[in-house]
Amino acid sequence: MALFTIDREKCNRDGLCAAVCPVGIIGLDPDKYPVPAEGADDRCIDCGQCVAICPSGCFDHRAMAASECSLLHDGLKLTREQCGQLFKGRRSVRNYKKRPVEQDIVEELLDLVRYAPSGHNSGGVRWLVLADKKELQAVKQAVADWMLFMLNDKPEFALMLHLDATFKRWTEGEDVILRNAPMLIVAYAEKESRMAPASCSIALSHLELAASARGLGACWAGYFNAAAQTFPPMQKILAFPDGSLSYGALMLGYPQYSYTRIPKRKDAHIIWRL
Ligand SMILES: Cc1cc2nc3c(=O)[nH]c(=O)nc-3n(C[C@H](O)[C@H](O)[C@H](O)COP(=O)(O)O)c2cc1C
Repeated sequence: MALFTIDREKCNRDGLCAAVCPVGIIGLDPDKYPVPAEGADDRCIDCGQCVAICPSGCFDHRAMAASECSLLHDGLKLTREQCGQLFKGRRSVRNYKKRPVEQDIVEELLDLVRYAPSGHNSGGVRWLVLADKKELQAVKQAVADWMLFMLNDKPEFALMLHLDATFKRWTEGEDVILRNAPMLIVAYAEKESRMAPASCSIALSHLELAASARGLGACWAGYFNAAAQTFPPMQKILAFPDGSLSYGALMLGYPQYSYTRIPKRKDAHIIWRL
């Protein structure tokens, strides 16, 4: 199957597909119609930039026909104010209602997150969604066991993270690990993938922001992830396929409270070289 086909009647020969192709595999023939460059089949990363940029809808890629790619809605562009509110209004939520998170909403959110950037468009992020109370309890207990292990085995590091105080609060009955969130969403990927840490972090950040649009709150589960990366008892519970590793996780649930103000943040530290 050809890498791409062009509807010559529709093509306005603007060369935009070639201009935006990240790997430079679209050339233009003498009449300015797009043609695959040498090695195009192997080098194409299926990112769909060519299809997405084409104003006439003439570009069908092997991985996606123009007709399969929805048109962008100009009227739905985020305004500067909306973007500011979205970014500045996002908060780590640590108080959740008991209400469970609906599976169809999670599916919708994870579907959206597929559009986040990923190294080489590899999309290698995989998800584990935990909402079973017993399983969540086992996960939390494993994190607590990891804390104790760290306090005994690597006290300097553990104290730097204040694991002593956090572990004490856990023993006193406070869920400082997953904050009683009804759901934990873990992003995992192949250990060998150099893109995995960035791709998973970006996907989780997108998920966190998208969740707010469905009335959900989220919080990064850093203690969980530290245990998931290094602590065999936790890895046994998670039971990821061989060669996979957790690269981050979010607690998810309906927030118990709503915030009123935007907290102050450190100034951006920028080296300008203009
Ligand atoms: C990688 C990472 C790990 C985190 N781990 C935890 C965690 O285990 N528990 C928690 O309550 N918050 C955790 N947080 C949330 C931070 O404490 C929070 O983002 C920070 O205090 C700023 O607050 P804000 O998110 O409301 O702006 C984590 C954040 C990141 C980015």
